[in-house]
Amino acid sequence: MSTTETAIASAEAHSAHNYHPLPVVVASAEGAWMTDVEGRRYLDMLAGYSALNFGHGNRRLIDAAKAQLDRVTLTSRAFYHDRFAEFCTELAALCGMETVLPMNTGAEAVETAVKTARKWGYRVKGVPDGMAKIIVASDNFHGRTTTIVSFSTDPEARADFGPYTPGFEIVPYGDLTAMREAMTENTVAVLIEPIQGEAGVLVPPAGYLPGVRELTRERNVLFIADEIQSGLGRTGKTFALDHEGVVPDMYVLGKALGGGVVPVSAVVSSADVLGVFRPGEHGSTFGGNPLACAVALEVVAMLRTGEYQQRAAELGDHLHRELGLLTGGGAVEAVRGRGLWAGVDIAPALGTGREISEKLMEEGVLVKDTHGSTIRIAPPLVISKEDLDWGLDRLRTVLSAR
Ligand SMILES: Cc1ncc(COP(=O)(O)O)c(C=O)c1O
Repeated sequence: MSTTETAIASAEAHSAHNYHPLPVVVASAEGAWMTDVEGRRYLDMLAGYSALNFGHGNRRLIDAAKAQLDRVTLTSRAFYHDRFAEFCTELAALCGMETVLPMNTGAEAVETAVKTARKWGYRVKGVPDGMAKIIVASDNFHGRTTTIVSFSTDPEARADFGPYTPGFEIVPYGDLTAMREAMTENTVAVLIEPIQGEAGVLVPPAGYLPGVRELTRERNVLFIADEIQSGLGRTGKTFALDHEGVVPDMYVLGKALGGGVVPVSAVVSSADVLGVFRPGEHGSTFGGNPLACAVALEVVAMLRTGEYQQRAAELGDHLHRELGLLTGGGAVEAVRGRGLWAGVDIAPALGTGREISEKLMEEGVLVKDTHGSTIRIAPPLVISKEDLDWGLDRLRTVLSAR
């Protein structure tokens, strides 16, 4: 057996099979490139589902982490630490908000948003106890906890994990009329992804997001934007909602906030909304720890220059132009997305998304499939134009060779 085969067999023997990874075993990575245990190099066109927006081993982020490792890494929230205030202040400023509640993973931040909205509903809006409802969209992906899968429409994510948490109404994504009809006086929030990542990088129809903003404002309902995957530069702006000039009541952030170094997530909102919490009502041992704050502070500083957003916009235009050319030839049925983020529907006759991903891997490019014949392309924002073109060439090769 090769080193790769041995490593995979061992991993499969000793880990739960809750993932079906591509058969590559990464040993090191830098920028947009990963190297496997046998020394083969791959262009990373997935970037940890946007967790690696700033690339692998980003010097600024690694230096920030190393400096913090030598000072203090964890205090728990039982004490203050000297990176906490700066992190909260800077992240709130980036979001144009006032208050930050830090957690670790995306799912925890979504759970936090759900708890915040319910508590706000009871304490501020005056919804009768136990009656709060949150409207979500079909084909959503917000994480894997029992409450979050309760409002998933994906049988794979949901089946066998009941009983499910009540209090959620599911309406078709992009359908404002359905959302309006689902709203009652007990609706406390709308929770949506401004672009649905897992569903295949679905961009909603023009006017939908401003419509959600208007409707939620009119009905005294919180607009919660899950920008865990779409936010922090990926689409060519700081937030995907910026493209529509929409400001939500609450951002839910994760992935790139930790710079690909440590898990960092957060809910960012107004002092009024996050002000509903009292000591003891919510928290996390690791949420807002010094190491996380040090890295995330650097992430925020990098985003405040606007440089990464601009890069994603420029390279994204190029990516979409090139992918658009493929749609004429029959191999690609549709391309969606914004910035350096694309969902590419491959003609089913050419293979499943998984098969195309495996072929691309053989060509030295790593992407990931989602649902059927769709592949997702989301390289680190630091990718060079030459490398992006090289990856696109490999995609053309794979599509024409089949
Ligand atoms: C939009 C969105 N929300 C939430 C999550 C969950 O994040 P995590 O895997 O860090 O729990 C994800 C992860 O893919 C996501 O894309």
